[in-house]
Amino acid sequence: MKKISIAIDGPSAAGKSTIAKQLAKILGYTYIDTGAMYRCVAYYMIQKDIDLNDEVSIERYLNEVGIELLPDNTVLLNQQVVTDKIRSDEVSKGASKVGAYGAVRHHLVALQRKMAENGGVILDGRDIGSVVLPNAQLKIYQVASVETRAMRRYKENLERGIESDLEKIKADIEQRDYDDSHRAISPLVKAKDAVEIDTSEMTIDEVVETVIKLVNERLEENTCQEQ
Ligand code: DC
Repeated sequence: MKKISIAIDGPSAAGKSTIAKQLAKILGYTYIDTGAMYRCVAYYMIQKDIDLNDEVSIERYLNEVGIELLPDNTVLLNQQVVTDKIRSDEVSKGASKVGAYGAVRHHLVALQRKMAENGGVILDGRDIGSVVLPNAQLKIYQVASVETRAMRRYKENLERGIESDLEKIKADIEQRDYDDSHRAISPLVKAKDAVEIDTSEMTIDEVVETVIKLVNERLEENTCQEQ
């Protein structure tokens, strides 16, 4: 069966990765978590004690960052498992910061395109439909209210046994929304041909079902075009 490429963009904590992972399982596609790649760059630089404001040093050490995304969603940084370590608040903020640097984006976008070159992929991030895969057959722009996103993150933390402050989570999300959508290079934008899905009042299953319908439509369109 023919496979398409799917781009899922949207602000942080909108549930993109949850949806992308489920879709990948159902469709037998490869999930590529591009945020994890920016997180790996930030984590590596923090470990190396490099000031994240120092763009020149970050560019210099970029080639030392070896990233592998395994099929079970394990993230390897230079052959070490960092799947959970890259989820801290410090790394989240750091990823947003290094993601504003042209050299970092250029490097990671090239890797992402290589990973996606055979199709049958679902990429989630901020610039997938606009920059990484402008020809993706299906582009989703997934949003949710700040309140919903903060509450989801808060509950996730509780499940992991982490105490957190709902108001602080909300403020952090608002700050990252602002930074990601106001940076000069490849800011978070809705691609003009993307389908917007507001998941604030939807369950995970409802979102997955909505996207699967769109996938089937695109597959049919593609088959028709080929005939
Ligand atoms: O999706 P995430 O929260 O794991 O992403 C972490 C940060 O990485 C996010 O704040 C901005 C940056 N990012 C980006 O600039 N472009 C992407 N395609 C993915 C993430």
